[in-house]
Amino acid sequence: MQNIEGKVVVITGASSGFGACTARHLATLGAKVALGARRFDRLETLATEIRAAGGEAVVPETDVTDRTQVQALIDATLAVFGRIDVMVNNAGLMAIAPLDAMKVEEWDAMIDINIKGVLYGIAAALPVFRRQESGHFINVASVGGLKVAAPGGAVYSGTKFAVRAISEGLRVEAGPKIRTTILSPGAVDSELKFGSSDPAAAAAVMEIYKTAIPTQAIADAIAYAIAQPDGVDINEIVLRPTPQEF
Ligand SMILES: NC(=O)c1ccc[n+]([C@@H]2O[C@H](COP(=O)([O-])OP(=O)(O)OC[C@H]3O[C@@H](n4cnc5c(N)ncnc54)[C@H](OP(=O)(O)O)[C@@H]3O)[C@@H](O)[C@H]2O)c1
Repeated sequence: MQNIEGKVVVITGASSGFGACTARHLATLGAKVALGARRFDRLETLATEIRAAGGEAVVPETDVTDRTQVQALIDATLAVFGRIDVMVNNAGLMAIAPLDAMKVEEWDAMIDINIKGVLYGIAAALPVFRRQESGHFINVASVGGLKVAAPGGAVYSGTKFAVRAISEGLRVEAGPKIRTTILSPGAVDSELKFGSSDPAAAAAVMEIYKTAIPTQAIADAIAYAIAQPDGVDINEIVLRPTPQEF
């Protein structure tokens, strides 16, 4: 695919699901990848696989709720590859539960990972993109950022509405040389569905995920956005399993 080969792509949340699949796919297409997440053993295994197939990967262990670690991810990428072309702010947590369940620690975790993690990614990569006079943010939201996933998803949806609002503001402020993409998926098969500790909500999530589509659909969508000519900015992608109503 054109306009992917040789690009340096940073992906947060690359130890499973969308992030891991996208890393593999982009590496196959010739991108150099920097993979951030907390489960370092998973990142190392993925990097070994990518290198064995002839690709290039660095794997700085990263907790996106810690701004200094997100900055370190960007610094380590620059130290190895010398530039950054794409920042995929993907790390996320979906803990579904009714507000009455008072899962306040999970509210905090979703706000810290899903919103502040994206902001820290922007804070670390935007100065690099300004210096380079080029760059591309891909921020992973959700269909839950288009419509409130109630009952149960009030806080998760709140975080994804925030990702979309921040990303749209970023698009306007980014100016003519930096591209921004909001990716809003429906149910996709990954570890995300296991994030709910409330038993009734967890069962409802499993029901919705019966029609989940494979993560390759996400990797393909991200590759499509990156592969466009520099003057073409794919600002929004919404994709769902065909039978999914929400
Ligand atoms: N799957 C879906 O149906 C779906 C639909 C819409 C949107 N999304 C969004 O897609 C994104 C990726 O989710 P997924 O489906 O691929 O789920 P996943 O398999 O659970 O992956 C989530 C990733 O986020 C990472 N992560 C979580 N907390 C982190 C932290 N504090 N610091 C760094 N990394 C962290 C995890 O790595 P570690 O635990 O190793 O840190 C993992 O790699 C999320 O933003 C999610 O909200 C998913």
